[in-house]
Amino acid sequence: MDRIRIRGGNPLKGEIRISGAKNAALPLMATALLTDAEVRLNGVPDLADITTMTNLLAQHGVEVTTRLSGKERSITVCGSNITDTTAPYDLVRKMRASVLVLGPLVARHGQARVSLPGGCAIGTRPVDLHIKGLQQLGAEIDLKEGYIVARAPKGLTGAEVNFPKVSVGATENLLMAATLAKGETNLINAAREPEITDLAKCLIGMGAKIEGLGTDHLRIQGVESLHGTIHPVVADRIEAGTYAMAVAITNGDVELVGAHHDLIASVIATMTQAGVQFTETPRGLRVKRTNGDLLGVDVMTEPFPGFPTDLQAQMMALMTTAQGASMITETIFENRFMHVPELTRMGASINVHGASAMVRGVKRLTGAPVMATDLRASVSLVLAGLVANGDTILNRVYHLDRGYEWLTHKLAACGAEIERLSEGAAE
Ligand code: UD1
Repeated sequence: MDRIRIRGGNPLKGEIRISGAKNAALPLMATALLTDAEVRLNGVPDLADITTMTNLLAQHGVEVTTRLSGKERSITVCGSNITDTTAPYDLVRKMRASVLVLGPLVARHGQARVSLPGGCAIGTRPVDLHIKGLQQLGAEIDLKEGYIVARAPKGLTGAEVNFPKVSVGATENLLMAATLAKGETNLINAAREPEITDLAKCLIGMGAKIEGLGTDHLRIQGVESLHGTIHPVVADRIEAGTYAMAVAITNGDVELVGAHHDLIASVIATMTQAGVQFTETPRGLRVKRTNGDLLGVDVMTEPFPGFPTDLQAQMMALMTTAQGASMITETIFENRFMHVPELTRMGASINVHGASAMVRGVKRLTGAPVMATDLRASVSLVLAGLVANGDTILNRVYHLDRGYEWLTHKLAACGAEIERLSEGAAE
């Protein structure tokens, strides 16, 4: 298995191009199941999760074509010949977002059999909201032998779905399903993440009728059918936030090309308090420390527009060497502090009490062999490694391959001493 070696201490300098958002591209790819026509997505990142979605769609009979023009990667999906409506366990267990095929399949093909995702490293992560919402649109759903078996032979019917809890995935599944339901659907207490707005824009480009973009109330008038479109994938705000924290932790100065202030406003507000300066440039955002020191700040994760849970681990890494203390509270997922013991092994001072972690800044971290069990926890260890004394060897690199395109290249191009060690390579 590949590893990453980092020798800490170099400030990042230069520019980093932000990729298209993985979490936008995944539901966008699933729109293939809603139409016979081609949907072309520009700026899809080259990531393991995208490959998993490609394989899943191919299993349903969707034709997926990838093209590279310059540095931009586009994917065209065409669902004119759906041959199978089962999403098998082997693919769903690799990636929870596979459940996003459920709504489109049942809406357009009247049936779907999707494996339950099962256990997950960051908590139990149920799919009850997806199931209840689709039932409200008239789908008959049974749970059989670990599969969600959904049927709507006469199609779905619009309804009011009031989510008891904000869920990104359930909002996306219901939004896609409602575009082809008869009549009006209201999604209330919908998630407002930019990836949902991006999905709504693409669906509108396909002929869907959706109002309330960017709010917690989406109103959808069902249409008979959808057509093809060409859609650019929104920039990855989590990648942008991660690199902003990498720049700040190393006391660097980098322009994040393609980053948007509005997509990470809460992150910018929090990091500004911590002593980091963001300046808008014609191409994106320039990030550097305001006057040298990082200060401890308190952070609580919340649904958008709050501070994203997907940047909690990276923010914690940033706080490990700040002056003073920082209380980091995770409200979205249980059990999302797996990075804590590893950061502690690198010399960080962190105490966890329930859903909160108290980080007391230390003068320096020291490199160590580390590993993590999820994507964001893994990248937080890369950030810590960039500033630690000596070498950090990160194991289980496949987690990073799920969500960070060209991570080692992007960091090395800004002066980081970082390399990927292929299996069997000498250390
Ligand atoms: C998406 C993102 C993930 C991010 C998360 C929260 C994708 C592919 N993944 O995941 O990176 O961390 O949003 O911003 O976009 N819940 C239920 N029942 C459900 C669904 C969710 O109780 O049916 C709970 C979850 O356990 C969690 C909370 O709701 O506690 C939020 O989860 P959700 O927003 O659904 O996350 P995902 O869509 O899985």
